[in-house]
Amino acid sequence: MEMFLILPVLCALTLLLLIGGRDAKQPNIVFMVADDYGWNDVGFRNPDMITPNIDKLAYEGVILNQSYVQPLCTPSRNAFMTGVYPFKAGLQHGVLFPQQAACSPFNKPFLPQYLKKLGYETHAMGKWHLGFCKWECTPTYRGFDSFYGFYQGAEDYYNRTVDGGKDFRDNKQPIMPDTTIYSTYVYADRARKVISQHDKSKPFYLYFPFQSVHQPIEVPVSYENMYSNIKNEGRRKYSGMVTAMDDLVGNVTAALKENGMYDDTLFIFTSDNGGWPLYHGNNYPLRGGKVTIYEGGTRATAFISGKGLEKTGYTYNGMMHAVDWMPTILSAAGGTPEKDIDGIDQWDSLRTGAPSKRTEFIYNLDDMNPPFEGHAAIRVGDYKLIEGYPGPYPGWYKPETETINLETKKDETNITDNERYAKHGNVESLGRELYNLKDDPYEHNDLSLSHLDIAEELSKKMAEYHKQMIPANFPNNSAAANPNNFDGYWSPGWC
Ligand SMILES: *[C@@H]1O[C@H](CO)[C@@H](O)[C@H](O)[C@H]1NC(C)=O
Ligand SMILES: *[C@@H]1O[C@H](CO)[C@@H](O)[C@H](O)[C@H]1NC(C)=O
Ligand SMILES: *[C@@H]1O[C@H](CO)[C@@H](O)[C@H](O)[C@H]1NC(C)=O
Ligand SMILES: *[C@@H]1O[C@H](CO)[C@@H](O)[C@H](O)[C@H]1NC(C)=O
Ligand SMILES: *[C@@H]1O[C@H](CO)[C@@H](O)[C@H](O)[C@H]1NC(C)=O
Repeated sequence: MEMFLILPVLCALTLLLLIGGRDAKQPNIVFMVADDYGWNDVGFRNPDMITPNIDKLAYEGVILNQSYVQPLCTPSRNAFMTGVYPFKAGLQHGVLFPQQAACSPFNKPFLPQYLKKLGYETHAMGKWHLGFCKWECTPTYRGFDSFYGFYQGAEDYYNRTVDGGKDFRDNKQPIMPDTTIYSTYVYADRARKVISQHDKSKPFYLYFPFQSVHQPIEVPVSYENMYSNIKNEGRRKYSGMVTAMDDLVGNVTAALKENGMYDDTLFIFTSDNGGWPLYHGNNYPLRGGKVTIYEGGTRATAFISGKGLEKTGYTYNGMMHAVDWMPTILSAAGGTPEKDIDGIDQWDSLRTGAPSKRTEFIYNLDDMNPPFEGHAAIRVGDYKLIEGYPGPYPGWYKPETETINLETKKDETNITDNERYAKHGNVESLGRELYNLKDDPYEHNDLSLSHLDIAEELSKKMAEYHKQMIPANFPNNSAAANPNNFDGYWSPGWC
């Protein structure tokens, strides 16, 4: 019975695509995700930073003032793809280590799979970090027509090696671009290539999760020299990395212009989490940074710009969350998002400047013990409740001039469980904090005792979300992943 109903519809759709060609209303979409990029690391907020290309797009579009992501990158990436909170997908911490036999769950299609059905050509380049233990986990099996980049969470910007394995692919093929060339140049070349070779009768989607500005802190000296006023070497190099990334953005917009695609392109730019204080990212005056649940770890540098926006040139203060990008982008592309996801389609709000459709969200729910990242927090209206361990960098850090005054210089992602137990104990042992973010966006005044009723209400709400959580898939490392089994490259084929 169903067959008879579905077949005629499919045939009609195919016919439409064949004869109709490109739907003029469908924009090209370029979704750029900067890695570990701080709130205070962009020219439109901090005049010391040189980011003319990012600033131009942002000023011509809409700067997003309350666009939230999760405190660690992989959950945000999963959210961008599926519109579902990773803690409901069994992926709270994501795939952090290269040897984990896990990847983003298969229970939800990825955004590019929907976009392909709408006629888009879909390309990904840069950092994947959603798992690669089998081919089904990798980008060209999850909706992307092409992929160019690396599967892991970070690597050297020249030798493209991490944890003893090489990591670079052109689609499925392991390759090694010239190791004397800094990676942003390599990606700029590829971006120019996919843009110029794009079949202009189809809409174009580029998912571009930058390697920049994640550690290792490396940049050609010409970029570092643009910040010779900064005495701290790490901050000087990091700032250079930011400008190299900005040049990459400039190369993408230039290529789109050269190919007559720019005017039809919608740009989305966001960081995946806050800047990482230990590696010179800066979120001042926001509190904390990457891995913490404070605003500095979770409030992204973000904007939307270009085709389809009706109100531009201002800062939008409505709430947006990482899970909203999937339905929002799908909607901008002319699609209809599924109803059973966490993400909210915010396209109309962003397009016209109307109030956000979102009034609450979960910052994170992660029961890992001992804690690795900020444990749990919820936002409802102006209030934010944090429960348990908030994460490793709880302070307010100004951009480094001479030195940085961090609570600890030790990288907490690289200490043993015993060391973490000794430091933080149980995830839930550090109590509660309540902030009114409207009056106190920098989280100075804990109201958890003076506004006990509000704290209780938010706590109950978070407990409801907690009930929907499914156990994280966070396996031990697998020796079978060893790159020596795969010609020295981190490769699928071990799960
Ligand atoms: C790649 O560069 C890193 C420095 O970031 C270095 O530690 C590593 O040994 C290099 N690996 C290879 C294979 O050259
Ligand atoms: C492209 O990037 C290069 C450096 O990689 C830079 O010199 C050049 O200015 C960029 N082009 C544009 C149009 O931004
Ligand atoms: C992680 O810890 C190991 C062992 O203590 C050390 O050799 C390595 O340099 C550390 N890596 C980072 C990125 O801190
Ligand atoms: C952006 O957010 C900050 C911090 O909450 C706030 O002080 C500022 O007024 C907001 N800007 C706009 C234009 O709403
Ligand atoms: C993971 O490793 C820990 C510590 O080495 C061990 O106790 C545990 O049994 C391992 N879990 C699995 C599923 O192998």
